[in-house]
Amino acid sequence: MPVYLDHNATAPLDPAVLAAMLPYLERFHGNASSAHAAGRAARAAIERAREQVAALAGARPAQVIFTGSGTEANNLALKGIAATLPPGALAVSAIEHSSVLAPARALEAAGWRPRLVDPDGEGRIDPEAFAAVIGPDTRLASVMAANNETGVIQDIAALARCAQSRGVLFHSDAIQAAGRIPLDMTSQGIHLMSLAAHKIGGPKGVGALIVDAGVDVEPLLHGGGQERGRRSGTENVAGIVGFGVAAERAASGIAGRGERLRALRDRLEGRLSRLPGVAIFGAAAERLPNTTFFASAGLDGQTLVLMLDRAGFEVGSGSACGSARAEPSHVLLAMGVERDLAQGAVRVSLGAGNTEREVDAFAATLEGLLGSLPAGLAGTGTL
Ligand SMILES: Cc1ncc(COP(=O)(O)O)c(C=O)c1O
Repeated sequence: MPVYLDHNATAPLDPAVLAAMLPYLERFHGNASSAHAAGRAARAAIERAREQVAALAGARPAQVIFTGSGTEANNLALKGIAATLPPGALAVSAIEHSSVLAPARALEAAGWRPRLVDPDGEGRIDPEAFAAVIGPDTRLASVMAANNETGVIQDIAALARCAQSRGVLFHSDAIQAAGRIPLDMTSQGIHLMSLAAHKIGGPKGVGALIVDAGVDVEPLLHGGGQERGRRSGTENVAGIVGFGVAAERAASGIAGRGERLRALRDRLEGRLSRLPGVAIFGAAAERLPNTTFFASAGLDGQTLVLMLDRAGFEVGSGSACGSARAEPSHVLLAMGVERDLAQGAVRVSLGAGNTEREVDAFAATLEGLLGSLPAGLAGTGTL
């Protein structure tokens, strides 16, 4: 069995989540909008999950809108808010996931003006730099709670305060932060928060946008009026049930899980930092305890990912590989990392199932691979 070290891409389905979902796939087939007993059972299951997801975010159940993915939640946040306001400026961090950056850009067609907030060299959004981008015409801001590539955690409460004091609505993509650091929308002053089930041991294809009371979002999908008219479409009952159980499990034991993962991550980084030419990104910032994003100068990250895959280790790369040649991570470029070094980025993201033995074996394999590469390959950036 390969060693899975790519939990920020998606986490394995938690067996307890699967067990909770199975009855809703096998027996309880009701449509939650139906008035009969089967429908009422489905409705009750969804409402229970709504409570569990709300608790993870520090919100009230009525604030939760279930969606078909984290991507949909982010799109609903930006486009759904934009549709309720006259066009203005939109402050967005430059290190957001594409599911925030792309809708921000798409809103330009409706007259909105996206303004990017650059991070510092460690991947942090400085509240002062954020404040400097907010102008009198800014109506909405979006900064993620933790970055999916570097794992760098933002001071989201300070950023939200800054937005709030200027009358700006504040959205945070907490998809990577959930279950790894405590979240509390209400005390953190966040108006809208996105979550996704599959990053916390739940199923793929279920997300949620949590919206503060008194904030209006225009739906992206119109139809049967599910989710109080804010997200039409027959609910994915089993998926939502799984999300609920995953959220409940993610909300408890954060500190203990984090300590164990941090120890594993530090063990790995201890080995990496002894390798010549290896840089660890965001190392001086507060980071999610499970994430290491690093590069070896002169190596191509995609190639290294494939070599590691052949050697039995599944890791992520920092590149978007839709084109012939993978583009280096926009997050690293925004942090001011040289293109060539950024091209070499590889991400290890640990999960609860990983062990010291696996981390040691990975480090030894990486050392072997880097040591075995012909000298001519170093520095080309095209391996
Ligand atoms: C920070 C962040 N936002 C949004 C998403 C998109 O979520 P989903 O895969 O559920 O569409 C992801 C994961 O891919 C992510 O890491």
